[in-house]
Amino acid sequence: MPATCIKGTGYYVPENIVTNADLTRHMDTSDEWIRERTGIEERRYCTKHKESTSIMGTKAAEMALSNAGIRGDELDLIIFATLSPDYYFPGCGVLLQRQLGITNTGIGAIDIRNQCSGFVYGLSIADAYIRSGMYKNILLVGAETHSMGLDFSTEGRNVTVIFGDGAGAVVLSATDEENRGILATRIHADGSHAEELAMINPGSHGGVHSEDPAAYGYESSEYGKTFISPKMLAEGMIYPNMNGQFVFKNAVARFPEVIGEVLVASGLKKEDIDLLVCHQANLRISQFVQKRMGLRDDQVWNNIQKYGNTTAASIPIALAEAVAGGKVNKGDLVCLAAFGSGFTWGASLLRW
Ligand code: ACO
Repeated sequence: MPATCIKGTGYYVPENIVTNADLTRHMDTSDEWIRERTGIEERRYCTKHKESTSIMGTKAAEMALSNAGIRGDELDLIIFATLSPDYYFPGCGVLLQRQLGITNTGIGAIDIRNQCSGFVYGLSIADAYIRSGMYKNILLVGAETHSMGLDFSTEGRNVTVIFGDGAGAVVLSATDEENRGILATRIHADGSHAEELAMINPGSHGGVHSEDPAAYGYESSEYGKTFISPKMLAEGMIYPNMNGQFVFKNAVARFPEVIGEVLVASGLKKEDIDLLVCHQANLRISQFVQKRMGLRDDQVWNNIQKYGNTTAASIPIALAEAVAGGKVNKGDLVCLAAFGSGFTWGASLLRW
């Protein structure tokens, strides 16, 4: 059975840097509050009318393909993870295919959600296809444009200061090399907390999960008039909401738990990890996980200070940076771990 290795990594972040001080022009916040609670110093925002999730994803993918030494038409499958797609449908996978100039229609394009866990979920899918022998080369992209959908008023500050835009990509290939590639991946979900970190509107729910459907402004029973209600727009109900402390508590428990699972599945110990790349949710979460696991600073990679939380893009951006910075070498044991909205979480352990 072949194993799945990461053959090339790539990333793209917009040029437009938005500092904490820049945000204070829109909302009542401060550089001190944001740094202290999240570790974030700045983030990148797309240039409007020029960049989008699929466009950033394409740039990251081009870098990953070039680093892997693979042409777009050699790919068997595209997997695109995002919660902020260019269109409601079709998904970004086909846009990426078009923008990469891949005219081969023998290729599949899968779009996945899974929010902050999107990249690890995508890895688990790619690994299953490759290990089964069905596909040899898969492009996995995580990309997000948060800046288009955040509330820049003081009301939205607890969420808005955290997120940034960007994209990361990897080319996953089959390998017969001994002791190389993905050793174990585990994914999890607990839908009982779905609304604790969510962007609920617009959607097709029609208020069905609420005790008070009218709270969404669904006064009309006419079809086609309720996807976005005037009330949603007027009351800012179209923005993400987050129960920050609840998310924090769950994240710091689930990260070590699932990292432990992939270590046990591979017969390895936390001391064996050369580099842990956690989803960049919040620097305080990553530091908590590091401390709980007793890992040294040089075993952990963080870059949230520069980019904020880029959801599905955060692991591949961080991994690509670590690789480009010479931090990952052949034979290293790399652990990728994520937790996010859903809740969903997961981890993957791989021998570089
Ligand atoms: N600037 C200034 N003040 C703020 C801001 C802001 N940006 N946001 C909230 N506040 C205020 C609140 O209004 C509140 O004021 P009050 O005491 O007068 O009512 C005060 O700060 C404390 O608010 P809390 O929400 O209790 O702040 P907390 O200490 O929990 O920090 C935070 C908020 C940073 C979101 C924290 O809960 C957290 O890190 N949660 C984890 C969530 C996370 O990381 N999410 C990332 C996305 S999910 C993921 O990727 C897994």
